[in-house]
Amino acid sequence: MKESNWKAILDAVTEPALEYLGSLPERPVYRPADPKDVRAIIGGPLPEGPAPAEEVVAGLARDLEPFVTAHSCGRYFGFVIGGLHPAAYGAELLAATWDQNAGLYAVTPGVAVVEEVALEWLLDLLDLPRDASAGFVTGGQMATFTCLAAARDAVLRDVGWDVEANGLQGAPQVNVIVKSEKHATVPRALRYLGLGHTSTIEVASDHESRMDVGDLARVLSGLQGPIIVCVEAGNVNTGSFDDFRGIANVVEDHRTKGAPVWVHVDGAVGLWARASERHRTLVEGLERLDSWSTDAHKLLNVAYDSGIAICRDASAHRAAMSVHASYLIHSEGEMARDPMDWNPEFSRRARGLGIYTTLKTLGRSGVGQLVDRACDLSRRFATRLEATGKAEILNDVVFNQILVRWLADNGDNDAFADRVIDRVQHDGTAFFSGTTWDGRRLMRISVSDWATDEDDVDRSVDALMRAASKG
Ligand SMILES: Cc1ncc(COP(=O)(O)O)c(C=O)c1O
Repeated sequence: MKESNWKAILDAVTEPALEYLGSLPERPVYRPADPKDVRAIIGGPLPEGPAPAEEVVAGLARDLEPFVTAHSCGRYFGFVIGGLHPAAYGAELLAATWDQNAGLYAVTPGVAVVEEVALEWLLDLLDLPRDASAGFVTGGQMATFTCLAAARDAVLRDVGWDVEANGLQGAPQVNVIVKSEKHATVPRALRYLGLGHTSTIEVASDHESRMDVGDLARVLSGLQGPIIVCVEAGNVNTGSFDDFRGIANVVEDHRTKGAPVWVHVDGAVGLWARASERHRTLVEGLERLDSWSTDAHKLLNVAYDSGIAICRDASAHRAAMSVHASYLIHSEGEMARDPMDWNPEFSRRARGLGIYTTLKTLGRSGVGQLVDRACDLSRRFATRLEATGKAEILNDVVFNQILVRWLADNGDNDAFADRVIDRVQHDGTAFFSGTTWDGRRLMRISVSDWATDEDDVDRSVDALMRAASKG
């Protein structure tokens, strides 16, 4: 085997990595960059010949670092971007070092077993059916895609249509029910699956973006044939949770008429409430539904990209995803599981390692505390901001999401929100992003990092007030 100077590569990254991680508490959270400036430093034509790898890697570490956003700093509150737990970071380093193709058990049995263990722990922690199946995918988007693929195939199979063999041409109509305030990844997954995103039936959402269960019952009563219902644990704007007990009751009632119904839960943000004793009531009844998607890279603080697709009906999940090729070594039986049968990818990296190490490090109580802390700090944000008299909190802060309306002296609150967000992003103390909700321009706060503490919240509120005081 050709030799390589691995030590030189590690030397090139170790110091910069330690410096970067050490700088997280104080470095600017975000540096708005002109793409021309980045290109001027790292661009240029493709090199004609080789260069020493350690020099290239050291150059990237040096040149790109000033433009990197400090997602894993305790004061990044934009979108729903989770931090990086040290246990997950360690697993990522190992995953890169070992460079395993985790598609097949036979290719890397050890990794496949670690992922199976992580999956068993997840089902236990989230208290979902212990015989449910799961696939480790890139994120919430592909987790929803995977679950809805299983849903589409199962409800059509129930009415005698084999969508895996025949596709959708000539298939019976599938009625897909969504709420008006669904996450954008749901219609996108439906589009990928040939179900279309404008042919869905929309059920009303209430003032907290929760599905109106009465409206769902009304819609269901007028439908015949196969049905998929998409519900949500943790709305991206309000953090709210649908009424899963109510939804399960209505759906079970409809099933007595003989129609196949599959209910999918988009739990990218909120499925983790199942791990918290204090927040568990938000997600009661969800275990009676059929599939669940979530993200380990959000509240569990595993590195990107790490989503999880979980299905009660393992055979439907497998039928929708599995693949065979004559040159592969497929595993049969209970003891071994080929990851490529449970996710849309063929080859993939060993992304389950980060989930394993993070769960093992935190344990059941640690994950619960992680969730509780994010929610407690969210309430601290809400209380402190409202006390300023310059901001109004528009949602009921039941989880880790906060919707803030900035109150402008001239009454133009929408424009003021964008000014505050822009100024605070340039200030660099903290990062917040915006949204349009209920026709209004608002600032969103998402507390999703194990590293965030009370001081981070207080410093961020001070930075926001500096931005707001400029009018
Ligand atoms: C409710 C919800 N669903 C799905 C997603 C998409 O997750 P991902 O970005 O991991 O694909 C998000 C992202 O914030 C979300 O908030």
